[in-house]
Amino acid sequence: MRYRAKAPGKVILLGEHFVVHGNPALAAALDRGVEAVAEEGDEDIVASEDLRLSSPISKPAEGLAPLCASISKLLSDFGRRGVKVTLRSSIPVSAGLGSSASSAVAALSAVSGLFDLRLDDEALFDYAMISERMVHENPSGVDVYVAVHGGLVYFQRSKKRSVSLAQRFPIVVCCTGSSRRTGDMVARVAAFKEASPETYRTWATASSKLVEDCARALEEGKYELLAQAMNFHHMALKAMGVSTPELDSLVREARSIGFSGAKLTGGGGGGCMIALPTRGDEVKLFHTFNAKHPNSFLSYIPSEGVRCWSTK
Ligand code: MEV
Repeated sequence: MRYRAKAPGKVILLGEHFVVHGNPALAAALDRGVEAVAEEGDEDIVASEDLRLSSPISKPAEGLAPLCASISKLLSDFGRRGVKVTLRSSIPVSAGLGSSASSAVAALSAVSGLFDLRLDDEALFDYAMISERMVHENPSGVDVYVAVHGGLVYFQRSKKRSVSLAQRFPIVVCCTGSSRRTGDMVARVAAFKEASPETYRTWATASSKLVEDCARALEEGKYELLAQAMNFHHMALKAMGVSTPELDSLVREARSIGFSGAKLTGGGGGGCMIALPTRGDEVKLFHTFNAKHPNSFLSYIPSEGVRCWSTK
């Protein structure tokens, strides 16, 4: 018997970094993510096709240690053993698109399906956070929450909810191919907050208000504010030291060809830029941008989070 699970990746539309310090963020699932297959075997093994790594869960290879810690806790809590988990990703690793969270959520969901553990969303979130805490210090949990629930989410450490979209809209994602550890970027923002507390407070307050207002506007089918809010957030993230000249140049280029909003997404220091196409021009704008940046893709926001099913 085999179980297959698929969990979406994510982009943060507004509020990354501020969310680590307790402010809200607005994040969206991507129509690509990580697929995991769990099947019974003699030994507990995790294999990643993308990282070309395979190792016993009890003796994980370096890149697989966080994921193995989550699966190992799940197996020991339920007194189960004998599973091979194989992962394949359609999002790049360490690019700010939530691949570690999607991997954990997909793997745990597939194992839960195989052994009929019936994990609810909250338990799935908690087990995936074991891995996420090893990947980067003090994670807010937004990546895991989106991988579990899908759709558009309003996420604050103390309050989380799905935002129902009046109308679907696409986001263009462009991967720079370079990356930095999210933990280092989080530390950089913490240092900025300490050195310039008033500026930080002003931006964090503005960010929270924009997240609240945009969530409400998107529920009502209004998109204009989101673009402006994305542009504000890029300015603030840049000033806090987590952008790069390459990300700034992609943002400028996207705006100059007609995208109404553009910003870095996730931890920064590399990773990806996202751009919001002007309504009505979505496909044309994407093709114009993609002709110069083939490492970009367009994604609508899927409403579904992780899914798991039995397979041959
Ligand atoms: C990572 O996708 C986004 C950050 O806000 C970190 C976090 O929320 O844990 C930079």
